[in-house]
Amino acid sequence: MERRPLGKTGLQVSALGFGAGHVGGSELSESEAAALLHGVLDAGINLIDTAPGYGASEERIGRHLRGRRSEYVLSTKCGYGVPGVEDWTPECITRGVDQALSRLHTDVLDVVHFHSCPLEVLQRPGLVEALVRAVEAGKVRAAAYSGDNASLEYAIGTGAFAAVQTSVNLFDQRAIDRGVAWAQGRGMGVIAKRPLGNAPWRFAERPEAHDLGEYWNRMRALSLDTRGMDWSDVALRFAAHVPGVSTCIVGTRRLENLRRNLRAWEEGPLPSDFVEAIRDAFRRNDTGWDGMI
Ligand SMILES: NC(=O)c1ccc[n+]([C@@H]2O[C@H](COP(=O)([O-])OP(=O)(O)OC[C@H]3O[C@@H](n4cnc5c(N)ncnc54)[C@H](OP(=O)(O)O)[C@@H]3O)[C@@H](O)[C@H]2O)c1
Repeated sequence: MERRPLGKTGLQVSALGFGAGHVGGSELSESEAAALLHGVLDAGINLIDTAPGYGASEERIGRHLRGRRSEYVLSTKCGYGVPGVEDWTPECITRGVDQALSRLHTDVLDVVHFHSCPLEVLQRPGLVEALVRAVEAGKVRAAAYSGDNASLEYAIGTGAFAAVQTSVNLFDQRAIDRGVAWAQGRGMGVIAKRPLGNAPWRFAERPEAHDLGEYWNRMRALSLDTRGMDWSDVALRFAAHVPGVSTCIVGTRRLENLRRNLRAWEEGPLPSDFVEAIRDAFRRNDTGWDGMI
């Protein structure tokens, strides 16, 4: 799998990464989670993205992949979830990094994101500095921001972050000409989250979950012609080849879907007239379709 620089962080990431959001759920047994995580690395994927909010995801990665730590770039998030400490305070950032080091059984975290805090939180005195201090202390290689819209654009402008993570998919193109392009222009790494748009084509009726339901609505409004290809292949090939995207982190519980996504990646970018049709459909239907956090 192709490796790309994650901006100027010095980290090299596989073009297809793994979003471990589903790894921490009880629907996967411990042995299934272990098999999935090992399968990710065995497939040549070297970026794993997790967060303290993803159930047992951090613990499971630490437990099952500690012996293979040199084989992957480890990305997590912070800002909340430290017992006894108020969320989104400098102390929560500092202790959150230490908590992640311990859960993930590692001496250094490659990328640590602020996990989608709103703009006013991002502007709190001392917050960004706490993450920068963790970088200076050698606990974190790259400080990053995960989020969308105005807060993403503010984060890019601070100059404090080496990478960003933001939604990029068929149904969520707001960041492509803005945050993604601006981050690329500043030499920052860009991690595309939700690259399949949570795969709404799997549902005949609008799903209840807010994000999936919104993407389902957008999919219907766009009424894209997939040109005889499977939706998942179109979605993957679109997101993975957006200019400026360093890696796209598909989330899956199934190795068969992971392998399918790898095969789609190997097909290369979609034809340029297809990409233009997808971009054009979004522009024509965009009724305030902001990035999904
Ligand atoms: N605010 C944030 O920071 C934030 C927010 C959202 C996501 N993220 C990150 O981005 C990662 C990915 O996002 P996501 O999981 O929400 O969205 P996604 O990757 O766009 O979609 C994941 C969904 O697509 C399905 N899927 C995967 N491959 C498929 C295929 N080939 N065919 C059909 N369905 C397929 C998965 O189901 P199966 O399990 O059945 O394969 C899963 O339900 C997360 O794990 C997380 O790391 C971050």
